[in-house]
Amino acid sequence: MDQYCVMGNPVEHSKSPWIHARFAALTGEPVAYGKRLVPLDGFAAALRDFRDEGGKGCNITVPFKFEAATLLSRRTARAALAGACNTLRFDGEAVIGDNTDGIGLVNDLQRNAGVALARRDLLLVGAGGAGAGVLGPLIEARPRRVVVVNRTLEKARALVAGHATLAAANEVELQSCALAEVDGRFHVVINATASSLAGEPVPVAPSVLLPGALACDLMYGPAAQGFLDWARSHGATGRDGLGMLVEQAAEAFVFWRGVRPPSAQVLAELRAELAR
Ligand code: ATR
Repeated sequence: MDQYCVMGNPVEHSKSPWIHARFAALTGEPVAYGKRLVPLDGFAAALRDFRDEGGKGCNITVPFKFEAATLLSRRTARAALAGACNTLRFDGEAVIGDNTDGIGLVNDLQRNAGVALARRDLLLVGAGGAGAGVLGPLIEARPRRVVVVNRTLEKARALVAGHATLAAANEVELQSCALAEVDGRFHVVINATASSLAGEPVPVAPSVLLPGALACDLMYGPAAQGFLDWARSHGATGRDGLGMLVEQAAEAFVFWRGVRPPSAQVLAELRAELAR
């Protein structure tokens, strides 16, 4: 079996081992996938150890995605844009980094939720690590307009500046603005803030939602509930981040194995498992 794992702190509740076990079973790939709790000051050593033990690659979760991006031999364009990595592959001595979070979100919205992003208006709320991880692939889906808002406006501005070239190449109107100054209504609203987790109100007014809009929180479980309730009570379709979780895992599986797992099936199975 080829060995993979997820490294993080905390990592105990990660669903990645469950998801990759299903991918391996359904594709017949010889993949064994575990989890490793890494001390906060021990990420580089843990990575070396895993590679020396013969590991083929790993996923990286909180809080190591940024540190991971500094320990690479090579990285994909989307990992460079995000400034963070969630997927590493070991090629001999080389460590190759990718970021599959954004393409995972785009695939979930387009394939699982059935919402085509091309020529739509998107609002991205949050310019922290999660927001930075998804903006590039959202732009590559060629919406008409993407507005990035954040409590700290400077971070939204910096994120938009870093993606200006990509936006121009994809003919996407990309803007930043302050939370209280969002102009217009949007087909898709993405919550990449920690506001629900903190039990705080949704940081944008419900007037940002077009009737029937899709409103997606990148979190799932209780952490997403406040945002989902807000969306549904204002006529939007709420979606949590469970589909993104499965789809980012599917892209990691492709990055490692060159084989695409049946992610929609595994998402349905995971939802059923969590509802038990
Ligand atoms: P992550 O990696 O999950 O994105 P982060 O980098 O700490 O974590 O970013 C958290 C995001 O949630 C940021 O966009 C943050 O806004 P600031 O950049 O202004 O800190 C946002 N956030 C956290 N609590 C919030 C709240 N109560 N209201 C609005 N935004 C909030």
